[in-house]
This record gives sequence, structure tokens and C-alpha cells, in this order.
Amino acid sequence: METIQLYLDRLPRARKPDFDPETTIVIFDRKLMTAVPGFKPWVTAFPYRFPVRSGEGLKSFSSFQQTLTKIHKKVGDKAGPKWTVLAIGGGSVGDFAGFFASVYKRGLRLVHMPTTWLAAIDSSHGGKTGLNFGGAKNQIGTFYPSEMTVMVKSILLSLPRKQVLDAFGELIKIAVIDGGSWAKRLRLGRGTNGSRAVRSTALLLWKALPFAVEAKMKTVRRDPKEKTGVRQVLNLGHTFGHVIESVTGRSHGESIWLGFLFAIEFSLAEGYLKMREAELLNDWLKLQSEPLKSIKKSQIKIKTAEARKRLLQDKKRTSGLGRKQKNNDEVRFVFVRGLGKTVVEPVSVEKILKVARQNGWLK
Ligand SMILES: NC(=O)c1ccc[n+]([C@@H]2O[C@H](COP(=O)([O-])OP(=O)(O)OC[C@H]3O[C@@H](n4cnc5c(N)ncnc54)[C@H](O)[C@@H]3O)[C@@H](O)[C@H]2O)c1
Ligand SMILES: [Zn+2]
Repeated sequence: METIQLYLDRLPRARKPDFDPETTIVIFDRKLMTAVPGFKPWVTAFPYRFPVRSGEGLKSFSSFQQTLTKIHKKVGDKAGPKWTVLAIGGGSVGDFAGFFASVYKRGLRLVHMPTTWLAAIDSSHGGKTGLNFGGAKNQIGTFYPSEMTVMVKSILLSLPRKQVLDAFGELIKIAVIDGGSWAKRLRLGRGTNGSRAVRSTALLLWKALPFAVEAKMKTVRRDPKEKTGVRQVLNLGHTFGHVIESVTGRSHGESIWLGFLFAIEFSLAEGYLKMREAELLNDWLKLQSEPLKSIKKSQIKIKTAEARKRLLQDKKRTSGLGRKQKNNDEVRFVFVRGLGKTVVEPVSVEKILKVARQNGWLK
């Protein structure tokens, strides 16, 4: 069943016909009580509401058991397949509550309400749920698409500058993968200095959101359970981005942006990107990247051994996907050929390190 994507100016009604509070389990980021004006009285209309503390700690077995115990105590003798789990928060809450919805009583209905740009653009679409295990991310999880994802403008537009900046990496990634007319028309370059500029950039994000979501869903539909490798294209910028994220502790969005810049350099070095296409792509990027100017490549210097370790960890995560990966030290890398043109090819970790060193990312 296809997920319904709903774009609303403000919160829906906390009553029928929008939601039935008597059969809805709301799992929400408790920070929203203070961060989002009007959220507290709104959520109070739901008798079965469970605030959680967002972040990676939430996605653990122990916190899962804690919340499960609370929920089961309150609704265990009532809840059934017609009940809905309403997941409100960023990606961590969505992954956690999505997993809960997929296994509790053998599956309840699921509605996502993403409250960060990352969740609105990426994590609340595509059906992946996840808990972390054994020191690694998302080792336990299910594919469980929501019946509906509700994006609320007033919540997303209230997010601070840092979160707006964080959205860019994923948005530019999906625009490059898709390359449709919306991507060609995209102009994100108004900067984010000052609150008016942040708001006008956030409005541009809001306008682009339905296109970005549909672009992701086009790929997801071709490989809903990540069996064929088609979905790997969504990893653009993530191979080296994950290295930057884990070594430097930078945010996911910033790291993916930098990882994307590396993917372009690598694509040029390997001949995937010809000079003419590279120029066109550069011109397009100039229209987008004004707000990203503060995120500088020159601030990144990673030890080669550290980068190797992280790349090999990433390899473990993606091995077994697709057909082309034969060698042991190879990862599947997403190269860029131009706007709307990407290709996934196996490359050795040592090759990635060599090009990263040549381009000044490593010490
Ligand atoms: N399932 C998927 O396909 C998928 C894809 C990408 C990422 N993820 C997961 O998503 C998570 C990261 O997502 P995230 O950055 O949204 O995480 P998050 O849920 O940790 O939220 C980030 C921060 O924003 C705060 N926040 C949330 N909404 C807010 C609001 N409206 N106003 C102010 N603050 C708000 C949170 O309290 C938190 O401090 C990771 O766990 C990652 O593994 C999942
Ligand atoms: Zn990402």
C-alpha cells in the first residue's frame, strides 16, 4: 500500500476525523513540548501519549523495553490491529516508534509526523525502522512503511538555523539523483544569515519538500526492501560522509554535504564526470550552496588509518547488496555523471583513500 503524503500548514485536529485519540498511541519527542508552540495542549488531547528522549540512546533495546513496558501497561488489554501509532519527532523517534508499530501486537497502523528537516526529507519515507545493537547502528529493524506521513509547515518552519543547514546535504543529494525539472529549477542560495534569511531558506525547503519526497519514493518503489541494490543510489555522499561524521562528530547533514563534494572529486578523477558535465553541475551547485559556504572542506583533516577503519565498517554494512561486488576490500560507491545521472560501482577502499589524500581530506 502506498503511503499518503500530507502537507499541512498547521497541526491536524487531535480528534476525529483526523485522529481518534481513543485508539492512537502517540510516541513523541518530549522536547517538542517546549520547542513547538502549541504542541503541549495539542498532544494532551491524546490519552495514550508517551514522551521519549530523542537521540541514538533511544534506539536501544533497553529504552525500547522501557517504553514498551509503559505502553503495554496502559493499552495492553485494548490495543489491536486498528490502533494507530503516531510517531512525532526527528529520525530517531521515527525509527524507534516505527519499529514498535511493526512488532507490537504483530503490527499496528503507523503514521509519521516528522519534526526535523532530516526526517521530513528522508527518514520518515521509505519504511526503514531501526534499533542500534552491538555498538552499530540500525542492526535490528524492519521495513514498515507508514500509512500516512504528515508534514506540518508550522513545525518545520520553527526549526533553528542549524537544522535548516542540516537539511541541505540530503536535499542536494536527492536533487542530484533525481535531476527532474524541480531539481533544475532549485535555487537554495539565499544564505542563512539573520532570521529573515533563515525563514526564506526554510520556505524554499518547504516548497521543494514534496518533490524531494517523491524523488526518494521513486527509488524506494523500485527496491522497497533493499534487495536488488537499486536503493543504494540513495547513499550518494554517504560513503565518505559517514567517515567525516564518525571521525569529526559533525552533523549528518553537514557530513553528507562534504561527502557529496568528495563524490564529485572522485567522479572526476575516475572519468565518470566529464569536464562539460562538471561545469554544468558546478554552475547548478553555485545556485544552491551559498548557505553551505560556512561548511569548509579545509576544516577537515582525517587520519588515513581512521578513514580506512570507518570505510571497512561501512563495507560490512553494505556487503551482500547488488551483484557487482567481488573483492573483499571493495565498497559500492555512488558516482555522479551529472544532474540526474548517477552510477553505483564497486571500488577498493584503498582507491578511495588515495583520491581522498590527493584531494586534501586526509593527513
Ligand atoms: N529510517 C531511515 O530511512 C533513516 C534515514 C536517515 C536517518 N535515519 C535516522 O535518523 C536519525 C537522525 O535523525 P534526526 O537528526 O532527525 O534525529 P533526532 O530525532 O535525534 O533529532 C535531532 C534533534 O532535533 C530535536 N528536534 C526534533 N524536532 C524538533 C523541533 N521541531 N524543534 C526543535 N528541536 C527538534 C531533537 O530533540 C534532537 O535533539 C538517526 O538515528 C538515523 O539513523 C533513519
Ligand atoms: Zn543521510
